[in-house]
Amino acid sequence: MCGIVGYIGKKQTSSILINGLSKLEYRGYDSAGIAVLDENGKMNVSKSKGRLANLEGKLKEMPLNGTIGIGHTRWATHGEPSDINSHPHTNSNNTISVVHNGIIENYLHLREWLTSKGYTFISETDTEVVPNLIDYFYKGDLLDAVMMATTKIEGSYALGVVCINEPDKIVAVRKDSPLIAGIGEGEFYIASDVPAILNYTRDVYYLNDKEFVVLSKNGIEIYDAEKQRVNKEVHHVTWNADAAEKGGYEHFMIKEIHEQPKAFRDTLSSRVVPGSPISLDKITLTKEQIENINRVYIVACGTAYHAGVVGKYVIENLARIPVEVDIASEFRYRNPIINDKTLMIVMSQSGETADTLAALREAKAQGARVIAITNVVGSSVSREADDVIYTWAGPEVAVASTKAYTTQLLTMYMIGLFFAENLNTVSSEEIEEIKVDMLKLPELAEEMLTHKEVMQKFAVNTYSHKDMFFLGRGLDYAVAMEGSLKVKEISYIHSEAYAGGELKHGTIALIEEGTIVIALATQSDLFEKMVSNIREVTTRGAKVLGFAAEGNTEIEKTVGSAMYIPKVKDILLPVLTVIPLQLLAYYIAVQRGCDVDKPRNLAKSVTVE
Ligand code: F6R
Repeated sequence: MCGIVGYIGKKQTSSILINGLSKLEYRGYDSAGIAVLDENGKMNVSKSKGRLANLEGKLKEMPLNGTIGIGHTRWATHGEPSDINSHPHTNSNNTISVVHNGIIENYLHLREWLTSKGYTFISETDTEVVPNLIDYFYKGDLLDAVMMATTKIEGSYALGVVCINEPDKIVAVRKDSPLIAGIGEGEFYIASDVPAILNYTRDVYYLNDKEFVVLSKNGIEIYDAEKQRVNKEVHHVTWNADAAEKGGYEHFMIKEIHEQPKAFRDTLSSRVVPGSPISLDKITLTKEQIENINRVYIVACGTAYHAGVVGKYVIENLARIPVEVDIASEFRYRNPIINDKTLMIVMSQSGETADTLAALREAKAQGARVIAITNVVGSSVSREADDVIYTWAGPEVAVASTKAYTTQLLTMYMIGLFFAENLNTVSSEEIEEIKVDMLKLPELAEEMLTHKEVMQKFAVNTYSHKDMFFLGRGLDYAVAMEGSLKVKEISYIHSEAYAGGELKHGTIALIEEGTIVIALATQSDLFEKMVSNIREVTTRGAKVLGFAAEGNTEIEKTVGSAMYIPKVKDILLPVLTVIPLQLLAYYIAVQRGCDVDKPRNLAKSVTVE
């Protein structure tokens, strides 16, 4: 994972690099470091284990002056978090500095080979081979040396490189890890992601694999692997820097939970219009191609996978096409059955998740057609898929995904309806009713957010528990999975999600006096069955918070506390039901004093396998 940033221009680079890294901490926060070339061409490096604040402290005591530099925030893969394993890494002679996001898979072999040539290593990282390899190939041209080095490296990388022999440039390249280049006035940037440079420029190049960039004070030159110049389109980013700031909220997560009504409006707008067919941007999938599909795979990781579980239910019900939903890291190695009748939908907030990207490539290579659903314009999945549908959630900074999940759900409905319209699997009246209800969701989400005290109160009563169980059936089971993940990832409470009917096949043995159970019973056709499941746990002493659709007050007979979800079509309820669960997880984590936006051991974007 990790985040990289680089700057070349007229200003002092340290503070620009630190600002950029602060926006990339979501990619990892085990350590941070910068390398700066001063006006005499000397290279100075400062790095520190732990959060960026530690590095800032070091730089206050010993500032690094210079107008060219590279920076890194780390999520440790090879070697524990420590000062020595922090980036930038330099070659044995301290002439070349490198920041790296990705994994060098053949680093042990390269390290042995470089050692036999007299190079020495001080860290346990895979990255340290890179500056030494560049040094080995360096014959007076940094770009050539980086190009040669990449012919020997296997794995994934976004690299930023500076060298004291050419103190007027930064060379960068990517393969399977994200990298953009930013264009300012007489100043230029590289970064893993747009927010890192949004304070300085909105004009960016999205780089492709094996494109090499040379940044100088005169501009940006881009080359392919044959050293031919590449002319790329400049993208103008429409987000502003404020969208990526906390805006008065205590944490990004709570801000992003509150941004859901707007995110829903943006995602639905112009796509769902009563009386008109669903409009999925510039989708190229034709009616004939839809008729030809005999199987859909939805492939994703984590929260996006949970949105896929809802998607399976939605697409199967609306379009009557069999849908399999898979965890990307499993899909890519399980030899799935794929042919030209297969449609794959990959879902990824960041669009850079390594396993999701690898699954996409595997499916494409075997002839599947691929739709990507992502929140990041220009991300790798968006560029490699046949079609892309954006979730217009705006930048999601908190590690725990909230508004990306709910907008992913909206795209699942839109795809389900789009297929149903093309396949005539649902009456046009029913389709219209669903659309009308979808357009109510932004307002109803606002209403859900006004009930936050209920969740706050429940959090106060439950935050000290060690375990928590989420139960649901059908779509509620899918939402239970997401609610449970939210609790465990930010509050570190052990939590499990179970299908109501499955509980008595083993897990009910864990229910005892005082066990906390969140029971979702919003689906009308499964309500009675869920009520039976709730009884099974309450008779064994569980303390239950029950969720039901408005009007289903029957639930109060079996649960300690109840929460009602506004009445819309059952199929749409997950979008609303999850909001109080997000709030519950948030308030529990706050009560427990956890670092809500940056939970331990996690990073926002998992760009390594
Ligand atoms: C959990 C969470 C993760 C991500 C997962 C996939 O709150 O955010 O589980 O959903 O890492 O990330 P993307 O969607 O960027 O592919």
